[in-house]
Amino acid sequence: MATSTLICETPQWKDLHGHVEDIKKTHLRDLMQDSDRCKSMITEFDGIILDYSRQRVLPATVEKLFKLAEVACLKQKIDRMYNGEKINCTENRSVLHIALRAARDKVIESDGKNVVPDVWHVLDKIKEFSERIRSGSWVGATGKALTDVVAVGIGGSFLGPLFVHTALQTDPEAAECAKGRQLRFLANVDPIDVARSIAGLNPETTLVVVVSKTFTTAETMLNARTLREWISGALGSQAVSKHMVAVSTNLALVEKFGIDPANAFAFWDWVGGRYSVCSAVGVLPLSLQYGFSVVHKFLNGAASIDDHFHSTPFEKNIPVLLGLLSVWNVSFLGYPARAILPYSQALEKFAPHIQQVSMESNGKGVSIDGVPLPFETGEIDFGEPGTNGQHSFYQLIHQGRVIPCDFIGVMRSQQPIYLKGEVVSNHDELMSNFFAQPDALAYGKVAEQLLNEKVPDHLIPHKTFPGNRPSLSLLLPSLNAYNVGQLLAIYEHRIAVEGFVWGINSFDQWGVELGKSLASQVRKQLHLSRTKAEPVEGFNFSTTTLLTRYLE
Ligand code: F6P
Repeated sequence: MATSTLICETPQWKDLHGHVEDIKKTHLRDLMQDSDRCKSMITEFDGIILDYSRQRVLPATVEKLFKLAEVACLKQKIDRMYNGEKINCTENRSVLHIALRAARDKVIESDGKNVVPDVWHVLDKIKEFSERIRSGSWVGATGKALTDVVAVGIGGSFLGPLFVHTALQTDPEAAECAKGRQLRFLANVDPIDVARSIAGLNPETTLVVVVSKTFTTAETMLNARTLREWISGALGSQAVSKHMVAVSTNLALVEKFGIDPANAFAFWDWVGGRYSVCSAVGVLPLSLQYGFSVVHKFLNGAASIDDHFHSTPFEKNIPVLLGLLSVWNVSFLGYPARAILPYSQALEKFAPHIQQVSMESNGKGVSIDGVPLPFETGEIDFGEPGTNGQHSFYQLIHQGRVIPCDFIGVMRSQQPIYLKGEVVSNHDELMSNFFAQPDALAYGKVAEQLLNEKVPDHLIPHKTFPGNRPSLSLLLPSLNAYNVGQLLAIYEHRIAVEGFVWGINSFDQWGVELGKSLASQVRKQLHLSRTKAEPVEGFNFSTTTLLTRYLE
């Protein structure tokens, strides 16, 4: 396909649009009767099972999606990513988060240079530093060991590490390694978040890790200054060098801030913020909490999926299948949202993380060549762990709008409970719902069943479920550091697949800039009004009115 051709102009896209009419004549209730079809839609890799038989697809649909992938040059685009080509063309950058978890002996190049030794240089430095902190050989200004860590960062410098930390803190192996330690996060510039993040902490035993790719993000820098004040107010300004370290690509600004460059952990512009959890952004705070060897397992899980994604034929390639199914749901069936529903409380921060990875990556209005797109890209991602979500928004998914669902289950609980006299364990109870919900959505419930159940006539419309609502199920063997890494990489690559097919740049984020620059005008005005009593000027009527009231 010529680069200037939009994917929607290809015969393969049009063919899929025509095929929607065939799908409209089907119902999942009937499709699920065909065990050959279902069998062809279950695939497994490295202990993870994907079942997409409850998607509104026929085998022919999947074939057509592979043809779409071919005309979109999906394989070539994946190769270009792995080869370090500058596929993030609006920022002239490679996209190499795969290098962050590559084995030491791999060769992955950007600008003709193997980046893997640089990655391992930082990983080795993190290992050494985290061991010094954890063993107590690095002490704070008053000679006490640093048992608590506050990681200050926002967006990609926060959500990924928070997701992984939340997933690991109840894993027995990881929890054992974290005994006596605390890891907290400070993201929002809201003073409430500042207060919460340091509540009960003693500066003498606290290490602050400032995490910012650019080291210019307004919220992070203000929060970093606030915590610098907290440390130096309690322990004197010389304590900062013992109690504050940084993760950034901008080491000059780290030094200017007053953090010793020796205590800075680098990463590189070929790591997108939302893809940075496997860099020092996540690896440093997580290693401080759990030890490097646990975090290394997490990196290995992601690396296993990286190899799978790169080398497996599309028919069995989990991220590719997931990405193509998302394109089908969004662009052809017209479902704009996706619910991410992990049946594991340990994954409660997974949906918020994927929300950023997906929506910041694929919420674009132009093609990679800058041509306005006549179709929508991206999904509205949201989610909550089951079964909590069932008692919240599932009503809408069952009888209101159609929202394709990702059900994510885990075979073995991190924290099993077997109560004497109970029919099932807690985990079995949880998983009963994981297995039941996809069928409830797919099959629904028809009037005839309700009549047989002697439901009164006037309630039949209310108790009818239309069914035919798509979902897919991902079943993980357990939820240790390795599996968490696998899950992360599956979604990262799935999102890339969607962007590659839509023909957009999934690796820039210009859409967040306008709000930032308008906020800086407001910030200036607030400063002038507060310090020099200057009136509010240069804003529209609405903003002027609200700002004036706020200042009063
Ligand atoms: O929200 C925009 C964004 O640039 C994200 O892409 C990024 O993860 C976040 O801000 C934080 O940026 P930084 O790590 O540079 O502070």
